[in-house]
Amino acid sequence: MGTAATATVAAEAVRRCHALAACSEEPGATTRTFLSAPMRDVHAHVTQWMTAAGMTVAVDHAGNIRGLYPGASPAAPRLFIGSHLDTVPHAGAFDGVLGVMLGIALVGSLDGRRMPFAIEVVGFSEEEGVRFRTPFIGSRALAGSLDDELLSRRDANGHTVADAIRAFGLNPSRVGEATADPGALAYLELHIEQGPVLDRRSLPLGIVDAIAGQSRLTLTFSGATNHAGTTPMAMRRDALAGAAEWITAVESAATAIEGLAATVGHIETTPNVGNMIVGRCDVSLDVRHREDQVRVRAYDDLLRRAGEIAARRGLVLAYQHHLDQRATPMDAALTTLLTRAVASSGAPFAHLTSGAGHDAMILAPRMPVAMLFVRSPGGISHHPDEAVAEADVAAALNAGLRFVDLLAAERR
Ligand code: HGY
Ligand code: MN
Ligand code: MN
Repeated sequence: MGTAATATVAAEAVRRCHALAACSEEPGATTRTFLSAPMRDVHAHVTQWMTAAGMTVAVDHAGNIRGLYPGASPAAPRLFIGSHLDTVPHAGAFDGVLGVMLGIALVGSLDGRRMPFAIEVVGFSEEEGVRFRTPFIGSRALAGSLDDELLSRRDANGHTVADAIRAFGLNPSRVGEATADPGALAYLELHIEQGPVLDRRSLPLGIVDAIAGQSRLTLTFSGATNHAGTTPMAMRRDALAGAAEWITAVESAATAIEGLAATVGHIETTPNVGNMIVGRCDVSLDVRHREDQVRVRAYDDLLRRAGEIAARRGLVLAYQHHLDQRATPMDAALTTLLTRAVASSGAPFAHLTSGAGHDAMILAPRMPVAMLFVRSPGGISHHPDEAVAEADVAAALNAGLRFVDLLAAERR
């Protein structure tokens, strides 16, 4: 496809990302959690775009929207190209969504050419883990690992994942039908980098070698609510003061370990009133590292520190694991093919590890996976200022088309 045509298709993919950003739970910001109402509008747009690109469209019972572009023969194996359509609160327009728009753009650019494999573009229903503190619900369904325990996880209002699926008009007892057939050929995910590496090195594209492992927990510090004015400082069991001491310990411990990211992003206090001492404080912990041993040792140490602080302050500590996702290397052979495709496209690139988690981690045990990053200007993501350069999106589309042709050539 010529340079001008690629640029036009890339510009349309970016426009579509902006159009979907308006599908939100709140006006003036982009917030789209698991199977919330705006996902219906997203599905209406995506159905139109997938159909125009020559795909037949279906929504599975985990809420993933799936566009199938047939291969040269009905028995042809399937190449999956996808990413997620849910967002964090007050998100940008490109995290996840760009990968689905590029998958549709890539298929549309084949202009009816048949490959020795079918291509299925998947818009996953949930990857961020915002509503249920459990990420990757959509891709777990495709991987066949969305089990009853996960379906029974509850949100802050006590509704289960299964309830949310039913409320969307789907049937949780049929999520098994979403599982990818055995013998899937591969999974390719195109995604913004979400970090500063490519931008700092003035590179449009990045090839992912591995995705860092991540653990997500909630810690609960319990003390004693009491009167803010009459309770002497020495007689307090202040849960928020204890959590605050621990939160600063999280930051200093993580800063001392190369490559470790540890974040407390959510805090909830009870009773949360200015003239009452906090009796209960719930805090999140998100720990990531490219080496599992370092990640596990780090959160064990942080839990030990929390226990020490709680004991010294007369608090009770409890904690709950929501996710323990191992670090995931990309498939070597597929990544070599992707590297050849990017190199032949002429776009400068680097190899890098992803600090962000991606659906590719969940599919990796089921099929070979590879990821291509698009530069994030300013390294900004999970923020309304998240951006892409249309030229970089065009470079990713060009590289993706070359990847598909190289994969086809291997199978002929
Ligand atoms: O938080 C993450 O790793 C990604 O944005 N889901
Ligand atoms: Mn994200
Ligand atoms: Mn993402």
